[in-house]
Amino acid sequence: MRYCWLLIGLLSPCAFAEQPNPQRQQELLNMLKHDCGSCHGLPPKGGLGSSLMPEALADKSDALLADAIQNGRAGTAMPPWKNFLTVDETAWLIQQLRKR
Ligand code: HEC
Repeated sequence: MRYCWLLIGLLSPCAFAEQPNPQRQQELLNMLKHDCGSCHGLPPKGGLGSSLMPEALADKSDALLADAIQNGRAGTAMPPWKNFLTVDETAWLIQQLRKR
């Protein structure tokens, strides 16, 4: 029985993408404003970085955007954020950008 719970604990992160907790959500939104905003603008209509407004992202896949955020874009000013953002946090941020 104990092992059963262990297994559920190990498997659940795969089954349900984790939502960041409310405090972390606030941190991520601040990051979007201060860190991403410095290049992408506030609202992120574009500056040094491209526009991150819902219209600009509409025809781009989550995978493409997540790759840009996690790994950066080589040869451009877009830095990798994978040391600061988990894959789930990146997915959550993309959702926020899409519905702004
Ligand atoms: C130092 C400047 C800079 C910062 C800071 C920055 N970006 Fe970027 N970002 C860029 C540039 C420049 C591009 C365009 C790269 C290219 O030409 O492909 C870009 C591209 C992107 C793309 C791909 C957009 C597309 O249309 O393909 C996403 C998504 C993105 N940034 C999200 C973020 C997020 C989220 C943050 C904050 C966590 C962030 N960026 C911080 C400069 C920056």
